[in-house]
Amino acid sequence: MASDDQKRRAAEAALAYVPEGCVLGVGTGSTVNHFIAALGRRRQPIAAAVSSSEASTRLLKAAGIDVIELNTAGDLEVYVDGADEATRHLQLIKGGGGALTREKIVAAASRRFVCIIDASKLVDVLGRFPLPVEVVPMARSYVARQLVRLGGQPVLREGGATDNGNVILDVHNLRIVDPKTLETEINQIAGVVANGLFARRGADLLLVGRDSGVETLTA
Ligand code: A5P
Repeated sequence: MASDDQKRRAAEAALAYVPEGCVLGVGTGSTVNHFIAALGRRRQPIAAAVSSSEASTRLLKAAGIDVIELNTAGDLEVYVDGADEATRHLQLIKGGGGALTREKIVAAASRRFVCIIDASKLVDVLGRFPLPVEVVPMARSYVARQLVRLGGQPVLREGGATDNGNVILDVHNLRIVDPKTLETEINQIAGVVANGLFARRGADLLLVGRDSGVETLTA
C-alpha cells in the first residue's frame, strides 16, 4: 500500500478521538490534509478549529469548518497533527512543512496531542530527517554557527519566509540520543524561535497507518 493510503488510514482513525462540539487544534501537512477532508465529511460537527498554518486554515474553511484564534479559544481538548519522524516513546521531529512554531504553540495549549503518521516515519533514533529550526532572519548566521558546534550541518531552507516572517535552517546529520536536552539547548540559542523537536511535549497518542491497519501507541 502506498504511504498516502497509510496516511489516510491514520488520519481517519484520529476522528475517534475528536469529541463532537469541541474546539479542535489542527496541524499541517499531507497527513493532516486527509484528516481535514475526513472531518469535513463527518456527521458530528466540531464547534471550531484552531489552525497551525495558513494552508490548513484555507482547507478547514473550504470544508465548512469555522477557524478561530487560539487567543479566544483558550486551552484545547485535542490537537491532531502529523510528524516527520516519531519514536515509540512518542517523541517527534516536526516542521518539514515549515509550520513548527505555530504547531508547538497549539500542541502546548492542548490537553491531548494525537499524532498521525504513516509507517515510514517510525524510527528508533530521531535525526535522519533534518531537524527544522525557525530563526529570526538577522540571527541566521549566528544561529548556524552554534548549530555546527552542536554537531549539525545547517542548511538554509529555500522558498521564502515562514507564516511568522522568519527563516528555517534544516540541520542535517544530528543523531539525537537525548531529544529533551537537545530541544532545550537549541531553544536557548539567541535568535531561535522554535525547533522541530517535540520531546518535552511529545504526542500523547501515536496512530501509525500500516498496510494491515492502524497501530496505536500511547505514552
Ligand atoms: C509541518 O510543519 C510538519 O510538522 C508536518 O506535520 C510534518 O511535516 C508531516 O507532514 P506530512 O504529513 O506531509 O508528512
